[in-house]
Amino acid sequence: VTAEKAGFDHFMLKEIYEQPKAYRDTMMGRISDDGRSVELTEIGMTADEIRAIRKIHIVACGTAMHAGLVGKTVLESLARIPVETDVASEYRYRSPIITPDTLVIVVSQSGETADTLAALREAKRCGARVLAITNVVGSSVSREADDVIITQAGPEIAVASTKAYTSQLIAFYLLGLFLAETLGTKDSAFIAEVVTAMHQLPEQVESILDNAPVLKQVAENLSKHNNLFFIGRGVDFAVAQEGSLKLKEISYIHSEAYAAGELKHGTLALIEEGIPVISLITQEDLYEKTLSNIKEVKARGAHVLGVVNEGFEGEVAKSVDELFAIPKTLPLLSPALSVVPLQLIAYYASLARGNDVDKPRNLAKSVTVE
Ligand code: G6P
Repeated sequence: VTAEKAGFDHFMLKEIYEQPKAYRDTMMGRISDDGRSVELTEIGMTADEIRAIRKIHIVACGTAMHAGLVGKTVLESLARIPVETDVASEYRYRSPIITPDTLVIVVSQSGETADTLAALREAKRCGARVLAITNVVGSSVSREADDVIITQAGPEIAVASTKAYTSQLIAFYLLGLFLAETLGTKDSAFIAEVVTAMHQLPEQVESILDNAPVLKQVAENLSKHNNLFFIGRGVDFAVAQEGSLKLKEISYIHSEAYAAGELKHGTLALIEEGIPVISLITQEDLYEKTLSNIKEVKARGAHVLGVVNEGFEGEVAKSVDELFAIPKTLPLLSPALSVVPLQLIAYYASLARGNDVDKPRNLAKSVTVE
């Protein structure tokens, strides 16, 4: 492999900056010219077979699992099919109820993760149809699944996954719209609205990347701490989990991601003077609730960074210490934007601590043992 860093200091930074292209490439050829319909010709299921799906299991590991957490919300809200998520290393051992009317979606950047592959085989053994979302054509997962959506992120070299994760989100949006159209759960006007917003995502990511220096400063301050929290509700909680994992993987700073409303049931005991809390606040209908959770941690001395939608800075500014605004998009699409500042914070925190950003200790890019 002759992978080049193209002028970037690390593969991870290069890959973060490749996300606008990865979004465009993953959408390319999968949306009709009039922008009102999603065309996933790689899915071989007939409309009748899609209508027969009673439940969906999303199974994956690590960052791919975190894409699946967003995927659950996306598929449930667009296609109205119940979705369960499992980490692959747990799935087989809990006797999951897999029936022929279950669609099992495995998500894997490499397509070679042993736990994920074993889960795929178990699902097939039970008669389920398996759909893979993977970045590698010809990988084991892609060969063994019934249907395959290839994310067009291009090769990902850094151990910490960035553009593969966000391309998996795009794949879930496309899949959700495709199922919604087939099932009639959403009309074409709605689909057109989501597609229009999706087409804006690459430029919106670019505008976040333009603000990297601000995040570098945030990260340098964070890098002096040994503990912090990420909080959010709904898809913001899913993104909080990915932001926390990214930071742990490469900066070795311990953090916990918590559903904002759950803090008061235990974790609040750990909030003390000066502890950093990164709060995602992108879901309009959950603003008030999350703001009240921010007040709970502020009252105990936390230093809060709010990641918020443009247009709501005013309201949130009063409640937080620092603010980072992301461009406005549809609530369901916000993870494709809000994770980007968290990736950059993890990158710069790792750098500030003098770590090997692209090759964190104890971790491998692809884990082929169970
Ligand atoms: C390893 C990597 C993670 C990755 C996980 C799943 O643990 O270090 O970054 O998320 O495997 O990999 P996959 O290739 O299946 O997405």
